[in-house]
Amino acid sequence: MCCGMVVLNACVKHSKENNDITLAEAYAPYFDIGTAISLHSINNETEPLLRKHFNSITCENEMKPIEIHPEENIYRFERADSMVNYAIRNKKKIRGHCLIWHQQVPDWFFYDEGKTASKELLLKRMKEHILTVVSHYKGLVYCWDVVNEAVDDDSTRIYRPTLWYQIAGEEYIEKAFEYAHFADPDALLFYNDYNCERPEKRERIYTLLKKLKDKNVPIHGIGLQGHWSIYEPTEKNLEDAIERFASLGLIIHITELDISLYPWEKMPRKMFPGENDTLTAELEERFNTQYLMAFNQFLKHSDVIKSVTFWGISDKYSWLNFYPVAHRRNYPLLFDRNMHPKPIYYKLLELPDRRK
Ligand code: GLA
Repeated sequence: MCCGMVVLNACVKHSKENNDITLAEAYAPYFDIGTAISLHSINNETEPLLRKHFNSITCENEMKPIEIHPEENIYRFERADSMVNYAIRNKKKIRGHCLIWHQQVPDWFFYDEGKTASKELLLKRMKEHILTVVSHYKGLVYCWDVVNEAVDDDSTRIYRPTLWYQIAGEEYIEKAFEYAHFADPDALLFYNDYNCERPEKRERIYTLLKKLKDKNVPIHGIGLQGHWSIYEPTEKNLEDAIERFASLGLIIHITELDISLYPWEKMPRKMFPGENDTLTAELEERFNTQYLMAFNQFLKHSDVIKSVTFWGISDKYSWLNFYPVAHRRNYPLLFDRNMHPKPIYYKLLELPDRRK
């Protein structure tokens, strides 16, 4: 039942003589190439691309608390299970995403008969949740994003003032890692966040992770989400972040890679009148340059970077067509709306050989 790493590495044989080599094969000596999937991606026209090009999957939503644990006494594993079964049948690794987050979490965790739950009750519920979910996928999911996005966007503080934090304080983070480690001592455990390459947020995340390491909390890696754009990160900021987090003895996964054509924004909004969402040749050039910069860095630091997961397969289904701006077309992935590989796909395919 286990799709162990040894078996997988044997499956993805790097064969230069094969003209039909895939991205996962080209990068197999360095790191995994994964993608986020939804139930529809294992049933629609993206499935052949998924089967062929990626050796690791992440459930885009189906393992999040709101999906898997909607009520205190109800677990719904069916949707995630069918995706896990797909991955096993097709010999792909499975990244678990995500155990504790302030979004896509049902309210019942935080309330007790109409009042805010006590810290004790919240941690008890968190423990039950983590033990049940991690045990269910023990031996199948080889790593977990244990805590997602706990560091605030506000640079004056470290911790995002979520209900987790307001009720349980910063301790909720270390407890989450301890429970996950207890449930599956073999699973690699990650802290996962966005904008980790921005120097000031990087330092706040570093402070949090250093504290965890100093307390011997069982954390093994950091997930850099990689929701980037043609404007950021710069090569220097990306490299500085990789080196800074690696200096803590953490491994690095790029967990949610997509490169937007637009500057980063958080608040959902409608398109401005006259706002243009056409892919020009100039924008595509910048998009290619940014992907090449990123993959050059990933290869340079492949001693610590062990997995690169795209947040989707085809532009047709990217969340960035809807967020933060509804119905603004975006072009962040390697396959276009017709499922064809873009020019950048071929450039990335050749990159490992060109660097030798
Ligand atoms: C965050 C989460 C992901 C996903 C994206 C939006 O990055 O970690 O699970 O919800 O937002 O698609």
